Amino acid sequence: MQMFAPTFGLRSPAFAGMTAERRFAAGLLLAGLFFSSFAFADARREQPPSHPDGAAIASAHTLATAAGVQMLRQGGNAFDAAIATSAALSVVEPISSGLGGGGFFLLHDAKTGKDVFVDARETAPAAAKPEEYLLENGDFNRDRAENGPWAAGIPGLPAAFVHMADKYGRLPLKTTLAPAIKLAREGFPVYARLVRGYASRRAVMERYPGTRAVFLVNGASLKEGDIFKQPDLARTLETLAAKGRDGFYRGEVAEKLLAGVAAEGGRWTAQELAGYRVREREPISFQYRGWRVVTSPPPSSGGIALAEMLQILQGWDLRKLDPAHRIHLTVEAMRRAFRDRTFYLGDPDFVKIPQRVLSSLDYAAGLRATIHPDKATPSDLLSGEETPLEDEETTHFSIIDADGNRVAATQTVNLTYGSGLIPPGTGVLLNDEMDDFALKPGTPNAFGVMGYDANAPKPGKRMLSSMTPTFMESPDRVAVLGTPGGSRIITMVLLGVLGYDDGLDAQAVAALPRYHHQWMPDEIEAESGAIAPAVATELKAMGHGLDLPGDEAAGGRGSSHVWGNLQTVLWDRKTNTLSTGSDPRNTVGRGEVLEAVKAK
Ligand code: GLY
Repeated sequence: MQMFAPTFGLRSPAFAGMTAERRFAAGLLLAGLFFSSFAFADARREQPPSHPDGAAIASAHTLATAAGVQMLRQGGNAFDAAIATSAALSVVEPISSGLGGGGFFLLHDAKTGKDVFVDARETAPAAAKPEEYLLENGDFNRDRAENGPWAAGIPGLPAAFVHMADKYGRLPLKTTLAPAIKLAREGFPVYARLVRGYASRRAVMERYPGTRAVFLVNGASLKEGDIFKQPDLARTLETLAAKGRDGFYRGEVAEKLLAGVAAEGGRWTAQELAGYRVREREPISFQYRGWRVVTSPPPSSGGIALAEMLQILQGWDLRKLDPAHRIHLTVEAMRRAFRDRTFYLGDPDFVKIPQRVLSSLDYAAGLRATIHPDKATPSDLLSGEETPLEDEETTHFSIIDADGNRVAATQTVNLTYGSGLIPPGTGVLLNDEMDDFALKPGTPNAFGVMGYDANAPKPGKRMLSSMTPTFMESPDRVAVLGTPGGSRIITMVLLGVLGYDDGLDAQAVAALPRYHHQWMPDEIEAESGAIAPAVATELKAMGHGLDLPGDEAAGGRGSSHVWGNLQTVLWDRKTNTLSTGSDPRNTVGRGEVLEAVKAK
């Protein structure tokens, strides 16, 4: 309490010449000031700090986390770390994302206090007209939508690196891309998920000479523990670092991309490649029970769906409900949000989205009123048709730095190893994001989600996504979260938000058992441990269809798998501590990635 210097007492010169009464009154005043100053100092101590003491990164691979950490140690900020982590993931997790794909970067700039959404989603090539994805008999040509050159949109990730470096970072791309270049050139140890994924996509990947040249060594595919080197990718990254946008979208790399696509029968033009631009968009933000949630706007479907679901659920105190009713109501909110996703959402540069209505409290209240407290609403009352669910790839990382800057980034090449096509000499595995368009209206894509006009392909249009990088902020806690998982991303982020609201720590949020409903198919899909048998019985009695692990024996399809790879960082403002949560399902180097670093 240095403000009360010992000389500033009743004997101080300030009181000289006062009467006894005045001295008494002044003494009372001083005592009051003294004690209220204590109270004031206490209140000041309770003000949350404006930034953490350190920094934290959670990503799906320990080497990608290390790349981000290296940037922070070299004086970079969260945005530099994001470029390094993103680029390193592109090298060490080619199954999920890469330079040939795209992503969404939700940024919080501590200097301005602003949140911004960097949309680096792929765009449709002009040649990719809906009729190109039909077989002669009019059926949907799934192979074209998912494999090879017609499946690929114009990549966005390289442009995102350049944009973030120019506008938000402190370090040059030569520095932020250096760890990824090293990993591509010197290699990294192959892990089980890469091998499993390769086996599932082998037939497609080995169609293409450029892909064979990267993934086969003396004719053999990679085994766990092999060192996987990608020298072409290292050179492409170096060119990008040296020349910026022109290092990828024009010149030598662009020529090779165009030639590789053309050689496999695809049609990209030099103009559409050179014309690719990221978009900065205003994030969606809303309140949920004392949290400010900041999340992804279209062309992500996730933010609007999250706003709908959480604002519907705000009508109940979920923590006071028994598990069956909590799941019932949460599922009913999911069902309604996914129905709206199907009909209304697409690229906001091309379609008018009723975003304000869909994310409003009144709309949520209206939807809430349609929910029976004890009975499932059959999805076909909300119209639609049965669709399958399939597997997926994508990746997410979360960062917070010592200035309070934040990044939530989800990036993807869509399905496992994207389109399977690497244009020779580039090392760039192209995405198969075209399948995220409604290529044939009303026909489910690989995630079983459908769409209509709002998400029809058009030249230069971005395909609808489920990627939902998200921040949540209360007076006490700040969390950054997101995950891969196709259409299930949205419900995983929802469960993550609810988990934080329940008071869980970051690791518990990442590990939460998951359940999912997406309107069609009309059933709750769940991981093992998400729905106890007695709760399942209650949910069935309410009219819910269930797809649970182990149901196969009873004739059900059964959810024999787990999903997602949620990566989150949490800043507890009360204790000013940072923590990370990395999904125990699919993180490589689990434990090692849970790193909090002290920034310079
Ligand atoms: N490719 C998956 C998504 O963006 O939703």
